[in-house]
Amino acid sequence: MKKVISVVGARPNFMKVAPIHRAFQKYSDSIEHLIVHTGQHYDQKMSDAFFNDLEMPHPNYFLGVGSGTHAEQTAKVMIEFEKICFEVKPDFVIVVGDVNSTLACALVSAKLGIKFAHIEAGLRSYDREMPEEINRIVTDSIADYCFVTEQSGYDNLIGDGYDPKKIYFCGNTMIDSLHFALPRANQSKIHNLLSLEKNEYILVTLHRPSNVDSKDQLSALLDILADVTKFKKVVFPIHPRTMKNIENFGLREKLESNEKFLLIDPLGYIDFLALMKDANLILTDSGGIQEETTVLNIPCITLRTSTERPVTCELGSNLLINPNPNEIKESLDLHFKNPKYTKQIPPYWDGKTAERITEIINNLLLNL
Ligand code: UD1
Repeated sequence: MKKVISVVGARPNFMKVAPIHRAFQKYSDSIEHLIVHTGQHYDQKMSDAFFNDLEMPHPNYFLGVGSGTHAEQTAKVMIEFEKICFEVKPDFVIVVGDVNSTLACALVSAKLGIKFAHIEAGLRSYDREMPEEINRIVTDSIADYCFVTEQSGYDNLIGDGYDPKKIYFCGNTMIDSLHFALPRANQSKIHNLLSLEKNEYILVTLHRPSNVDSKDQLSALLDILADVTKFKKVVFPIHPRTMKNIENFGLREKLESNEKFLLIDPLGYIDFLALMKDANLILTDSGGIQEETTVLNIPCITLRTSTERPVTCELGSNLLINPNPNEIKESLDLHFKNPKYTKQIPPYWDGKTAERITEIINNLLLNL
């Protein structure tokens, strides 16, 4: 029996690992698939809700590292994950995405000589001020196998001199989760609960340090959102980091008097998907939402100067803009006149990516 560990840490990891866990069940005679949760995200709403919505089993190991500076968080994950590796002696490790837990477990695996795969490899924003960009570059550079979601991921790795034999273009497991959950999202009661009608609201998410850690920038963004309520309701499920900053900067009163501005707690996966699929527009600085809106064919304006997911702009419904007030207003005017829709679903974003990945890993394990 071979042992494979998949690591999850923060919210966007759960949707990427859940389909892999399901796909490994086909190989349960020869592969034991274990889930390690680092605890980087720990709130019920940022973590547990996703296990339920994605029908993922409880993690086999919970490391409970919590928040901290980048060094503290990365170091704590490394120390705790190394202990698990000594205990479990995995034959193979899978890390996904670009969060601090990804980097930490990649480093531990590489140093212990455990073969490991990076899922969602090769993405590059070419903006080294993003902590995620550092995590991506380092993780890819020490990974034994790189699974890419889009052509740019393949091209970036080849451009950096990676051996094509270790790169696999299998598609996007986040989209597997979307297909899996859509039937239940169609039954969600969230629209009734929030008194929302299809196409009559704009859904917002913001959590990038560049948008929410400076008082001036956050305040300007909240003013624009308040302004948009002249046209549509605004629904803003708020990330804990952003909420803390709104409180600390004393910005809460900007929103409280506006009935068309719904500031709500973070949502679970099913309810959030339900809101995405019926939105008029999504305003975000998330990575994964750019991909999900592409598949759902919902216009998306991304409030960032760069994206590591260019296919969502080339083929999808995503428009990237510099998040300053003038550009945002111009892009909103443009959206209301001429919304951007998806031209083509990117290759292999078909809901079957995890099947392809686990088949490859099964074959790799036979030859280890
Ligand atoms: C992390 C990832 C980011 C990802 C995002 C998704 C890194 C470097 N960043 O950013 O790539 O897009 O998750 O959400 O790994 N907090 C809570 N409860 C929680 C988790 C966090 O209150 O369950 C608060 C903590 O005060 C923490 C802050 O939010 O300090 C930020 O959390 P952290 O994990 O450091 O980064 P994110 O901004 O969530």
